[in-house]
Amino acid sequence: MEAFIELERVEKVFEVRRRTGFLRRERRQVRAVDALSFTVARGEMVGYIGPNGAGKSTTIKMLTGILTPSGGRLRVAGIDPSRERTRLAHRMGVVFGQRTTLWWDLPLIDSYKLMHRMYRIPDARYRENLDRLVEHLDLGELLDVPVRQLSLGQRMRGDIAAALLHDPEVLYLDEPTIGLDVVSKTRVRDFLRELNAERATTVLLTTHDLQDIEQLCSRVMVIDHGRLVYDGALAGLHEAGEGERTLVVDLERELPPIEAPAPARVVRVEGPRQWLAFPASEPAAGLVARIVAEYPLVDLSVREPDIEAVIAKMYADRTDRAVP
Ligand SMILES: Nc1ncnc2c1ncn2[C@@H]1O[C@H](COP(=O)(O)OP(=O)(O)OP(=O)(O)O)[C@@H](O)[C@H]1O
Ligand SMILES: [Mg+2]
Repeated sequence: MEAFIELERVEKVFEVRRRTGFLRRERRQVRAVDALSFTVARGEMVGYIGPNGAGKSTTIKMLTGILTPSGGRLRVAGIDPSRERTRLAHRMGVVFGQRTTLWWDLPLIDSYKLMHRMYRIPDARYRENLDRLVEHLDLGELLDVPVRQLSLGQRMRGDIAAALLHDPEVLYLDEPTIGLDVVSKTRVRDFLRELNAERATTVLLTTHDLQDIEQLCSRVMVIDHGRLVYDGALAGLHEAGEGERTLVVDLERELPPIEAPAPARVVRVEGPRQWLAFPASEPAAGLVARIVAEYPLVDLSVREPDIEAVIAKMYADRTDRAVP
């Protein structure tokens, strides 16, 4: 497959000056992105995750040409984004969930009209795209509302439409579902899935909501301290993180922690309810049978490894082994 996004040992180092006393300043370097290499093929939808400060937004800013890498080689559609930012702007869309690109005081439709001109979108295409986006993102009622009056979920949908009016080949989404309620999240996800399937738009999606990834991306890249620590199928993350399942046990009354055969162990007790963690690779049956036989039981349930916990564990005990 053709590589659409290519990073080869890309680095970004920030110089930060910190005041350490009266007239004294310390200079420090922050290596936000460190020898980062990956490729994304045209039409792929890839999740890009990692803890706070990992370097996700910095990567996206370099991909869009807002920031210039300190080292390495970066190409999008064969173009160096920081050198030819305007040329690339016509081919990409970007949504920063934390910040709107819409004009705050203007009705939504006015922002779109401005973009129509800014991007020199041919009239027919603009109208066709606008109609389609308004329909799919359910924006009809909102077009005449000033952006400042929109709810967060409405504004986000408005922002996504703005990023797509000019038919970009690639869409970067930096936390597009942040702060959205379940209904809005579902709507945004459905739309992205369709966009990727029908238009083969390449999508790079940064999020802290792992359900976004579970529902949209077959491939996920994990970044930590500016380095790629995992690149592969979402399912493989469980193994890479050595996930654990949890057995939630409701007892008839409050009791001391259940004595479970290792490696199963009680990780939490709250009144008559106890939580036991055990390796995801082991069947639960033996453990369940033992507890049923030895404890006064009301109810129990098994929780699958929470991908969030898997990743947290992965960040915690990461070695470089996870990079294939
Ligand atoms: N303009 C800047 N000047 C100095 N340091 C910066 C700048 N931008 C980012 N950083 C630092 O670079 C590192 C990576 O930041 P980045 O915003 O890329 O993280 P992130 O993965 O997007 O985190 P989050 O999940 O919190 O959004 C952090 O240590 C951050 O403090
Ligand atoms: Mg960020």
